[in-house]
Amino acid sequence: MQTYDRYVNAVPTYHGFGKHLLKQMVDEVQVAMNHSSKTVLLGFNDYAKHLINLFGESNQILAVVESDSQKHGWKFRSIPVMALDEAMQLQPDVFVCTAVEERHEFLGRITAHPDYRRQPISYFPRPTTMEESVYQPWSHSSFYRRLRQLKAQAPISMMDEQKILFLLELLEQTLYLSGDVLEVGVWQGGSAWFMAHLLLHEALPKKLVLVDFFETLPRANSESVMCLDEIKSSFAFYPHTLIYQGNVDLHPEFVNMRQYCFIHYDLGFDAARLQLCFDCLQPGGILLLDNYGLITANPCLFEHWFAQRGHRIAAAPHSEQGWVIKHA
Ligand SMILES: C[S@@+](CC[C@H](N)C(=O)[O-])C[C@H]1O[C@@H](n2cnc3c(N)ncnc32)[C@H](O)[C@@H]1O
Repeated sequence: MQTYDRYVNAVPTYHGFGKHLLKQMVDEVQVAMNHSSKTVLLGFNDYAKHLINLFGESNQILAVVESDSQKHGWKFRSIPVMALDEAMQLQPDVFVCTAVEERHEFLGRITAHPDYRRQPISYFPRPTTMEESVYQPWSHSSFYRRLRQLKAQAPISMMDEQKILFLLELLEQTLYLSGDVLEVGVWQGGSAWFMAHLLLHEALPKKLVLVDFFETLPRANSESVMCLDEIKSSFAFYPHTLIYQGNVDLHPEFVNMRQYCFIHYDLGFDAARLQLCFDCLQPGGILLLDNYGLITANPCLFEHWFAQRGHRIAAAPHSEQGWVIKHA
């Protein structure tokens, strides 16, 4: 026990590595070793390497499972790195997840296997706080993690990560429907950029229609920093993007040329504009109102408008967003 403690204490502290996590992992693997359990580590990283240094000679660590296929076939101190399916064939008893951010995905993939339906896996940090206990897509889903990495390339958005998450989760709900995707109120393209990435990821050839004043917004307006060339360039990765510049109230054709499964309405209340958009929404489609809950924008205006049409706005729990599912 003391030998392990000494080893862990001597590991240097560096960015992205949690010594307290390694301590928790060592305790867990030690229990597995004491029970002579055949153990598989999930994630080839420094935690796994340290565990192999400490316990690899016992021959009870069968393999390290890694999502990155480029690492399959590698060995570290003769412990092989492989895909999950291959490791399952070794019939392990215990899974220790050293890939902190992938724990939710590994749990899902292991319990999808018929022999491991009820398999507990040891994951870290041990869920002691609410934050550690709850699935957090920006950290735990490979799609959102990749988006986060790409985020440096994203145009600036007025929306924070939580609001973008809600936007994408709702958009995803509607992708089974036919029709395209509309954003009215694009500004520099920040929220739309994330929508385009989701559409690309789902490999759906849906058009992404973006409507804003862009450079026709008067120079004196404090939001007037939209450069059309810059916005076009930001969306080059998604060739199904259609960008329309001008006042949507004067150009209904920007909107009503198509039907939509999802509309992100990110501007203030206007009855005619709302009607224009809602008329083009497929039954079952979702309209997300970004500014619904802002008291300064008067949420009742939106509520009355939808109530008159037999619809009700659902308020998002942690932001001013509200959404409506169009009745079939
Ligand atoms: C809140 S911002 C959009 C923020 C954006 N979705 C983001 O992620 O940062 C609202 C935008 O609506 C646009 N807008 C407001 N009224 C408009 C109109 N009548 N026609 C076209 N665009 C309009 C403004 O130019 C502004 O860029």
